[in-house]
Amino acid sequence: MVVPGDKSLSHRGLIFGALCPGAFTLTGMSQGADVRATADVLVASGVPVTVGARGGSWTVGDPQGGALREAPDVLDCGNSGTSMRLLAGLLAGYPHLSVLTGDVSLRRRPMARIAQPLRRMGATVDGRDGGRLAPLVVRGGDLTGIEHASPIASAQVKSCLLLAGLRARGTVVVREPHRSRDHTERMLGAFGVRIEVFDDGVAMEGGQALRAPADTTLPIPADISAAAFFAVLAAIRPGSELTLPGVGINPTRDGLLEALERAGVDVTVADRRTVTGEEVADLVVRGGALRPFTIGGALVPRLIDEIPVLAVLAARCPGTSTFRDAADLRAKESDRIATTARMLRAFGIVVDEQPDGFVVHGRPDALLDGGGRIDAAHDHRIAMSAAVAATCAAGSVGLLGADAVDSSFPGFFDLLERCLVR
Ligand code: S3P
Repeated sequence: MVVPGDKSLSHRGLIFGALCPGAFTLTGMSQGADVRATADVLVASGVPVTVGARGGSWTVGDPQGGALREAPDVLDCGNSGTSMRLLAGLLAGYPHLSVLTGDVSLRRRPMARIAQPLRRMGATVDGRDGGRLAPLVVRGGDLTGIEHASPIASAQVKSCLLLAGLRARGTVVVREPHRSRDHTERMLGAFGVRIEVFDDGVAMEGGQALRAPADTTLPIPADISAAAFFAVLAAIRPGSELTLPGVGINPTRDGLLEALERAGVDVTVADRRTVTGEEVADLVVRGGALRPFTIGGALVPRLIDEIPVLAVLAARCPGTSTFRDAADLRAKESDRIATTARMLRAFGIVVDEQPDGFVVHGRPDALLDGGGRIDAAHDHRIAMSAAVAATCAAGSVGLLGADAVDSSFPGFFDLLERCLVR
């Protein structure tokens, strides 16, 4: 079962390709609307991007490129927080006026976490609610490095400031309570930028020029966050076996594997290799007996996007499973603590909601309740998690806003159906 290319890496591949003179070929890209939003913003900023069909190659940049021009209109990031936060950082390096907006979900998400440090670097950033909500209006240029202690582990915040820092004087230092995904740091290294990584953060000297890697074809590994839906699908169906080839298992992103192991799931990680500076492996997941598990602490940023579907796994484990230290889930495409709890309750599962997570009372033997209606709440991961849970329900379940899956995983329902009829 081949899942789409990694969304985080697809965004970054486009951005780094745009920043560095030369034309780059990106293969295995995420075909979701989120990554297309990043491509559209870059095109509006004068960067040539050719979008390939599924499985095909995308190209970004040209030999003269490496600089962005002021876009003629408002830049629409759709549902994509990664687009808005990373591109705000990138555009803050230029003296242009950039207006970044998004859909109803993105316009509700907190932007002070990037607006405030970008202002300290010297950019002018405004927005609704005193500059806390999109649309964001960014006038950049003439930046200086700062030391920023982020109260949350956030790769979007870290990447925003590093991208701004590429055009700043002085050094950018970003500290975080736990390490967030390090794709940006790895890609900076691959493009010849010196960056220091220490226990609680990163430091990068500003003003460094990007250098094209020797190989300008960048294959994008399969997305562990997309693979998670199928890994859980296999895990909750005793006797099943599913192979997920070429999945990114970057150690800052591989918390899914640890969670599956804690739940007693039989997973084989085979043929470990490196693709575009990222660890990749073939995963084989087998369904069998499950046990309850706990997720918290430093593990949370390593599986933050997988928590809704891991909650579905918890619903099929005996006893109670606990998710804690995940308050930032309330700031995702939806309030994922509330929407995950609501989704599981629609299947008859008892969930105790807490400020920073929830406790799931599993029902391993009986089928889940059917007949309910679930609102995806503009959240692709809630829609896909609900669909996985529905495979264990007695009777059908209504899913409102199922097209939210297109943000990250167009074709999800076809793949799910193909898995189930095998
Ligand atoms: C992402 C970082 C994470 C993650 C999001 C993608 C990225 O968000 O939840 O889906 O590509 O940098 P935070 O930076 O808010 O943790």
